Amino acid sequence: MNLAPVTIGRLVHAARRARANAYAPYSRFAVGAAALAADGRIFSGCNVENGSFGLTICAERNALAAMIAAGQRPVAMAIVTRDGKATPCGACRQVLAEFAPDLPIILASETDDGITVHRLTELLPALFRFPPGGETSQK
Ligand code: THU
Repeated sequence: MNLAPVTIGRLVHAARRARANAYAPYSRFAVGAAALAADGRIFSGCNVENGSFGLTICAERNALAAMIAAGQRPVAMAIVTRDGKATPCGACRQVLAEFAPDLPIILASETDDGITVHRLTELLPALFRFPPGGETSQK
């Protein structure tokens, strides 16, 4: 998928707006994510931390869940962090791959310098698929 610069700009803008609402009092590491649907709509999310720590939900999965609830599937996702260098965690990679194994992933910071575009296959080369090995191998 070839992402037009204007599309990347829209996605990064939405992810920055979501990041502003991140609830991250424990890590102080705010993350915003925005997922583009085939119909052009954008669904965003931020990380929501919890005092139990383990119940924290990442920005990427929150954005994806909002999109799935609206009946859409992701065609691209932008992730905004402090320096634009953080990649999605392993859990988020696997969850994103459920819907789009080769999803384009845009990484950005608060400035437009250094935006990079990656593919999910590059970040998660050996994803788990159910059933492993295909239908026939299921017991
Ligand atoms: N976080 C995300 O939102 N996305 C990621 O892919 C990695 C980590 C959040 C979780 C936690 O609130 C904070 O960043 C520090 O780990």
